[in-house]
Amino acid sequence: MISSNRMLYLVATGAPLSSHVHRAVVLGRDQGWRVAVIATNAASAWLDHDALERLDVPILNEHRQPDTTKRLARPDAVVLAPGTFNTINKLAAGIADTYALSVLCEALGADRRLVIVPFVSQSLAGHPAWTPSLATLRQAGAHLVDPRSGQLGVDGPLESGTGDAVARAFRWEWALAPIADMTDRRLGQ
Ligand SMILES: Cc1cc2nc3c(=O)[nH]c(=O)nc-3n(C[C@H](O)[C@H](O)[C@H](O)COP(=O)(O)O)c2cc1C
Repeated sequence: MISSNRMLYLVATGAPLSSHVHRAVVLGRDQGWRVAVIATNAASAWLDHDALERLDVPILNEHRQPDTTKRLARPDAVVLAPGTFNTINKLAAGIADTYALSVLCEALGADRRLVIVPFVSQSLAGHPAWTPSLATLRQAGAHLVDPRSGQLGVDGPLESGTGDAVARAFRWEWALAPIADMTDRRLGQ
């Protein structure tokens, strides 16, 4: 039987979609997940801290101190949304120099379910590192979701200046769809 109440980490980075991560918390809980938000420093400027506080969701941004106990259960699934150019390239290269990147690198290394919503402009996507990074992550089993259409496996860049509008129109169901089979809530059990 599929176990319920599994742990989902939502990793937020420094791009406009992070303004709406609180909506993913609500949706994830509705779908039967226990949810935590892992934020990069750059994500902080976008997060709706009041909404997240009202939801009483753990928000972690740094490693624990060595002499303290673990704060969260291990994730069963990790959703990186939005995924910035910076974080996605570092993840593909195996760089774990922030807490968020450690979580992401571990998810990939431990073969946990990982969903990525790349959120980059055309100019950044033209950089030679970008296409190989996405290919590496795809080959490693990550599920890439297009931020404009929700299509799986599509990762086209955003037209410059459209980030806020794409973020407002984004449906978090798209990001959670690749992990929907992991809880029993939708089966009505
Ligand atoms: C207004 C604004 C919008 C940004 N939008 C994006 C974006 O859509 N995609 C992206 O990759 N970086 C974007 N950036 C740049 C990232 O925030 C920056 O590269 C940051 O270092 C990313 O750090 P992180 O990956 O640790 O979150 C934006 C920056 C600003 C100030």
